[in-house]
Amino acid sequence: MRFDVVTLFPELFAPHLAQGITRRAFESAQVDVRLWPLRDFADGAYRRVDDRPFGGGPGMVMLAEPLQRALDAVRSDRADRADRADRADRGQPAAVVHFTPTGQRLDQALVQRLAAGPGAVLLCGRYEGIDQRFIDRNVTLEISLGDFVLSGGELPALVLLDAVARLQEGVLNAPSHQQDSFSDGLLEGPAYSRPERWDTPEGERAVPPLLLSGHHGQIALWRRQQALALTARRRPDLLAAARAAGRLSAADERFLAGLGP
Ligand SMILES: C[S@@+](CC[C@H](N)C(=O)[O-])C[C@H]1O[C@@H](n2cnc3c(N)ncnc32)[C@H](O)[C@@H]1O
Repeated sequence: MRFDVVTLFPELFAPHLAQGITRRAFESAQVDVRLWPLRDFADGAYRRVDDRPFGGGPGMVMLAEPLQRALDAVRSDRADRADRADRADRGQPAAVVHFTPTGQRLDQALVQRLAAGPGAVLLCGRYEGIDQRFIDRNVTLEISLGDFVLSGGELPALVLLDAVARLQEGVLNAPSHQQDSFSDGLLEGPAYSRPERWDTPEGERAVPPLLLSGHHGQIALWRRQQALALTARRRPDLLAAARAAGRLSAADERFLAGLGP
């Protein structure tokens, strides 16, 4: 799978791609990330990539033409390499993603969809955003990280790359990401490690005794119930969606009914 990132700040990516468990996915090219510095596609001595907005207003707008040249270069490189490698995904168009606060909220379902595809072209906005004509002509998916405004699309791109990389085979132990929050529609419950008893100035804090019992069946049930209780408390919307999708068992429902209002 291949991700092409069009950005004004390619240097922001290297440190993140070379660290942590996701490094394995990037170094083995399981998730092949290519960076396309937008300035390389700009005209003139000043390599201008932005200008003032028509109609007035604050800030600058990213110009359509350098972005189009960058995207055309990405597309022809993707097509060439797929042809040469005779890859099965040849011809399968990769999504052209624009990160914007006005887009669809990134969630685990969208991450899973992208992780199962041929990759994508990631366009990182800056300034007040991108000339709408370029977006209308090229973009197939607009993604937001949430209801707040960042200064650029680079962090959203890194967030997406990290989330996709950790789903690749061999990057994590499979059961680990299968138990993560959202994978089965619920939030994941709490985790504990050593020491069994932690002395703090307010007193001793112990690990829930069942986790030390070695009863794997009972521990799995306790974890399920912790996940159900946490999701009911913090994200009733997720619980309702899990119920509607038939993901709650009769035992889950009995446990939830016992929680009270
Ligand atoms: C300062 S923001 C522009 C915000 C834009 N004027 C607006 O109000 O919607 C610059 C760039 O950061 C990125 N960005 C900012 N917040 C984001 C978010 N919540 N999700 C995804 N991308 C975001 C986008 O690429 C955006 O083009």
